[in-house]
Amino acid sequence: MPRCTPRGRRNNGADGLERWAGQWRSTARYASCWVAQTLAGVGAQEHPDLMAESSSPGPTPARSMTVPLTGFAVGAVVAVLLGVFGRAHDPTLAGTTTLGFRTVLAMKVVVTVAIGVIAVLQLLGALWLYGKLGAAAPPWLGTAHRVSGSIGVLLIAFVAYHCLWALGLEYGTLPDGEPVSTRTLVHGILGCLVIGALVTKVVAVRSRHAPGWFLPVAGGLLFTLLMAAVLTSAVWYLAAKGWPASGY
Ligand code: HEM
Repeated sequence: MPRCTPRGRRNNGADGLERWAGQWRSTARYASCWVAQTLAGVGAQEHPDLMAESSSPGPTPARSMTVPLTGFAVGAVVAVLLGVFGRAHDPTLAGTTTLGFRTVLAMKVVVTVAIGVIAVLQLLGALWLYGKLGAAAPPWLGTAHRVSGSIGVLLIAFVAYHCLWALGLEYGTLPDGEPVSTRTLVHGILGCLVIGALVTKVVAVRSRHAPGWFLPVAGGLLFTLLMAAVLTSAVWYLAAKGWPASGY
């Protein structure tokens, strides 16, 4: 991208009003050029996939700890609120869907397997974008990473809704006297933390003023919690009872 240079001192023959208008237009052109280069530079600093789109980094934006601290705080509050909701709300199957599977549980297991696969692909894609896999990332990878990440977020929200709404955050003993297993409690807490981490990750992706470590740390935290939630639910189910279509 060419450098922005201020111009507008060449209207030697023009009268006062024309000279003033010419200088004003040049100043406006210089300002819009500077803003465009600054935005391109900030984007490239934050997101490795945007680096290929701009070769000139522009002025370095101010970095602040306020953004990550706010992101983690908001994520923690969301996780706690979901847990409180999971305890206060009366579980009900009304307002849920099976998507054609035999039960809601079978549907959740299958969708969660898809979430697990997407999560692994997201991790590999992020490592590639950050240049950690040796080979240079192809230009389409940033877009593919965003699209598959958005699909993953929708699927997580979908399954989490069915867990929270139909079952809630279970611990102790259920109304029918059945004791709640430690796995179930751990899974419920992890599920709430996953949604909180998702909120923190969105803050990290959207922020233009956070330190460079915030995005990979928020992404790594989300991946770790998500995989733990998948392992304590769908993977446990598959190991204990087999693939849902085969009879459950
Ligand atoms: C939002 C907070 C969440 C809460 C409170 C929650 C709670 C629960 C509970 C109580 C169960 C029943 C466990 C049992 O009967 O043994 C369950 C099952 C399940 N959950 Fe969640 N969950 C949450 C989020 C998630 C998320 C984000 C996923 C996917 C990544 C997920 C996937 C599953 C699956 C596949 C099952 C069925 C397998 C099983 O019985 O464990 N849940 N959830």
